[in-house]
Amino acid sequence: MNKSNISNRVKQIPKSAIHEMTRLSKQIEDVAFLSWAKPTSGAPAHIREAAIEAINNGLVDGYSESAGLLELRKEIVHKLNRDNHIEANPAQILVTVGAIEGIAAAILAVIDPGDEVILPSPTYSTHINQVLLASGKPVFAPTLEKQGFMLDIEAVRNAVTPKTKAILYCSPSNPTGSVFSEGQLRQLAEIALEHNLMVITDEAYEYFVFDDHKHFSVASIPEMKKNVISCFTFTKTYAMTGWRIGYLHADEELIPQINKVHIPFAICVPVVSQYAALAALKQSQDCVVEFREKYLSARNLMCQRLESLDSIFEYQKPGGSYLMFPKILVDEGKNSKTFCERLLREAKVSTTPGGDFGPTGEQHLRLSFCVPEDMINMAFDRMEAYFN
Ligand SMILES: Cc1ncc(COP(=O)(O)O)c(C=O)c1O
Repeated sequence: MNKSNISNRVKQIPKSAIHEMTRLSKQIEDVAFLSWAKPTSGAPAHIREAAIEAINNGLVDGYSESAGLLELRKEIVHKLNRDNHIEANPAQILVTVGAIEGIAAAILAVIDPGDEVILPSPTYSTHINQVLLASGKPVFAPTLEKQGFMLDIEAVRNAVTPKTKAILYCSPSNPTGSVFSEGQLRQLAEIALEHNLMVITDEAYEYFVFDDHKHFSVASIPEMKKNVISCFTFTKTYAMTGWRIGYLHADEELIPQINKVHIPFAICVPVVSQYAALAALKQSQDCVVEFREKYLSARNLMCQRLESLDSIFEYQKPGGSYLMFPKILVDEGKNSKTFCERLLREAKVSTTPGGDFGPTGEQHLRLSFCVPEDMINMAFDRMEAYFN
């Protein structure tokens, strides 16, 4: 391919470390794999059955309304009222191809070339690339690692310039697992209102919070009605990664604008997935509780195993998600990419280098605990043998 045919917008996007680690891992047999933030369980049976029924009833062969099936949007409204304390109506919902397409559409609807977007650092690498793809400028506000990667409100305030257009964050966080508190998010909302900024949230891990942490949605603050776009997904909550379905909530005046981005990329979300999502919301939520308990147990195991590697890693206990982001204490960790590649080649443990997750991500690695506990034990047995 003639490289000069590629847009500068795309050329500036770095190669994804996550995909690179996956590629390298495939070249090695019998790897203990902690690289993916992807549920290893499949979607529950009742969701799969609802999809099959919709197919057999001939419901899925055409497009739906681009915003999503009305019946599904009504159920989403019910969920947002019940669980997120967001006063919503179906005209404020856009069903999207996972949270990812929702966030991308939100960014493209809000950001002009050169506009600045404040992101906490470390943050989800895809968010950084989404801002770059919109020709926006990511501006990083470092989080407070020693305080569990908590938001540093002053750092956010100091990052605001006349060019700032939006703040984009995920809580619970990929990669750190930190859960931003209601108090902090209220302060963040105040900054947004003071400067009339948009807040774009990624709440993919909303149900996976542990200990005393609570998930808080900024859109539940009535004054924020016109200043927030909240993005959610079925991927994590119901282990529906491959179904590619999520949704966003925003003011009804914003939805048609965001839809102008959604339509050229997707037209609508695959209708079969919309019927599956409808079943996920309408039927028992026991699976969500089960997933949460499984991740909590896996988190506890991973933290316990990290204790015996305390000369190599220093970790903050994640309050949510199924990811954690230990700091590498040894000199070799200064370049997290080289460190992780060696760990893969020499100890057969696949992790994700932290450098992709913003400027304060370097010298860290991301570990995923949404894997069977046997996998965690295998990875740590190997790392103990390797480092000792
Ligand atoms: C924070 C965060 N947002 C979004 C996604 C992707 O979500 P979806 O599958 O809904 O597009 C991920 C996947 O790892 C994630 O970690």
